[in-house]
Amino acid sequence: MPINLDHLGELERTHSCGELRAGDAGREVVLMGWVAVRRDFGPLTFVDLRDRDGLTQIVFDAEDAPDAHARAKEVRGEYVIAVRGRVEVRDSAAHNPKLPTGEIEVRALELLVLNEARTPPFQLDASPDKLAAEETRLKYRYLDLRRPYLQRNIRLRHLLVAEIRGYMNEQAFTEIETPILIKSTPEGARDYVVPSRLHHGKFYALPQSPQIFKQLCMIAGLDKYYQIARCFRDEDLRADRQPEFTQLDVEFSFATREQVYRLIEGLYVRVFRLVGAELPQPFPRLSYAEAMRRYGVDKPDLRFGMELQDLRAAVEGTTFAPFAAALEKRGEVKGLVVKGGAHLSRKQLDELQEVAKRYGAGALAWVKLGDELSSSLLKALGEEAVTRIASQAGAEKNDAVLVVAGKASVVAASLGALRNEVARREKLIKPNTFAPLWVTEFPMFEHNEDDGRYYAMHHPFTSPVDEDLVKFERAVEGGETHLFGEIRAKAYDTVVNGIEVAGGSIRIHRRDVQRLVFKALGLTEEKARERFGFFLDALEYGTPPHGGIAAGIERTLMALTGIENIRDLMAFPKTASAADLMIDAPGPIDNHQLDELYIRVVEE
Ligand code: AMO
Repeated sequence: MPINLDHLGELERTHSCGELRAGDAGREVVLMGWVAVRRDFGPLTFVDLRDRDGLTQIVFDAEDAPDAHARAKEVRGEYVIAVRGRVEVRDSAAHNPKLPTGEIEVRALELLVLNEARTPPFQLDASPDKLAAEETRLKYRYLDLRRPYLQRNIRLRHLLVAEIRGYMNEQAFTEIETPILIKSTPEGARDYVVPSRLHHGKFYALPQSPQIFKQLCMIAGLDKYYQIARCFRDEDLRADRQPEFTQLDVEFSFATREQVYRLIEGLYVRVFRLVGAELPQPFPRLSYAEAMRRYGVDKPDLRFGMELQDLRAAVEGTTFAPFAAALEKRGEVKGLVVKGGAHLSRKQLDELQEVAKRYGAGALAWVKLGDELSSSLLKALGEEAVTRIASQAGAEKNDAVLVVAGKASVVAASLGALRNEVARREKLIKPNTFAPLWVTEFPMFEHNEDDGRYYAMHHPFTSPVDEDLVKFERAVEGGETHLFGEIRAKAYDTVVNGIEVAGGSIRIHRRDVQRLVFKALGLTEEKARERFGFFLDALEYGTPPHGGIAAGIERTLMALTGIENIRDLMAFPKTASAADLMIDAPGPIDNHQLDELYIRVVEE
């Protein structure tokens, strides 16, 4: 039977559902929202009314307000209602300390049923471990978003962006919008492309970032640019990546690295106050080389120690094949000390080995300094060598040492991942601690073993450090390609708690240097002109030295909240396969549209 709905008419809300306190007792109020729960006790019916601010308990009493009480029996979960009533302090036994409004309730005088709702396909107030599958919730995202957890995240995101805008405006930056329909910008991922109807067979690309445009803003004399910019990248997704995401994008003229550091440190100190955290200033700095050597990753989590230890000296001359082979092939043998780790069981060690293997390690060796010495290496190396390894690593009684041998990149990646995993398992991270740092002096180029080519580690507009320019010219023009690996870039990342929250660089402002970089990347003069002719031309009309950075909004929220699922920090996220399950995108388009675009879909 269709329910008889009421009109809102001119009735206005007086308060939100999270607002009323004991001090409001006696006031007549009007609340509106969704029915979270209804509990029926004969002459008394209770409704928890929910809006974006919280929950308020409404009481419908058959004696006080028989009409409202009768009507309240008709409402179900997620119905939309308006209630006029009086605030009363609950009996102290009925106080709900979990709710900010837990001291009061509203005794209804009038109830308007504004809309009905189908039974939701999942329970909105389930505890986190009982939540419906994420796929179901993504399909009905508008319902999932009603959960207080997501409401809080979306609100925090708004506060973050508002804080960023306030700060950048105070620093005299101008917010400038750059186009979304552009030509490819090379940031290392694939482009999302958009076919053009008016230009037969031609395509726009969506920006992977506004990189070239913000540099053109500098050439245009706009001096200090920022934008809350949407970026699109067709890349393999990971837990901390989305195909479209948002950056605070920044660029300014005559920039030095120190100025960028100060600007961003000031920003982060301010935004972290949103969660009550006080960041140290200045942020510590680590060169890329040092970060890799000590932590195995270029985004180390500095909330805990557990640095990687070089064990070469302890195993030099060994005949144990995995170690000997690693050292022979200019690889490494390194380890890390798990404080008090002698308790680690075989099963736990096996699980840790699986983590190491995921990052390419052949095996994970271990030493435990319990009451007795035990080690996966005892048979192969003997007690003396195993003891040497433990002492070289700096392990003490009751500690464990985890050891990986192999190619330097594999040793770094696997121990870097193990370091984070062990910290999580052994609870080495104090809650509500924040460890920001700068990682600096990235290499300009990364060697790709598959195709033997060099790629820009940041992007092709990043400047080499001044001292390496001569070497760089020798590498490109003199054919001394072995030097490529030694060229350092004026590039930097901001890392907080092991999350890369921002990255940027001082740019190339000279035409001759830009030409060298394109050449180093294997772009012929012709190809470079075809793709970036407009930009190369622009560089010749008085380009000021400039630089900048971009901070991921979602990543910054991950660092602020400790939430690991990036989808929980945006309103309408996509899945790991870049699909939107709610609107069912991507989807086919009809033939008429395809014809207009001169596109034919070929069956696989
Ligand atoms: P970069 O590619 O390092 O630099 O990106 C800057 C920051 O953007 C965030 N980020 C992402 N967040 C979510 N999903 C993704 N797929 C994703 N990719 C990147 C990260 C990262 O630190 N144009 C340059 C910036 C510059 O040089 O100024 C750029 O985009 O937080």
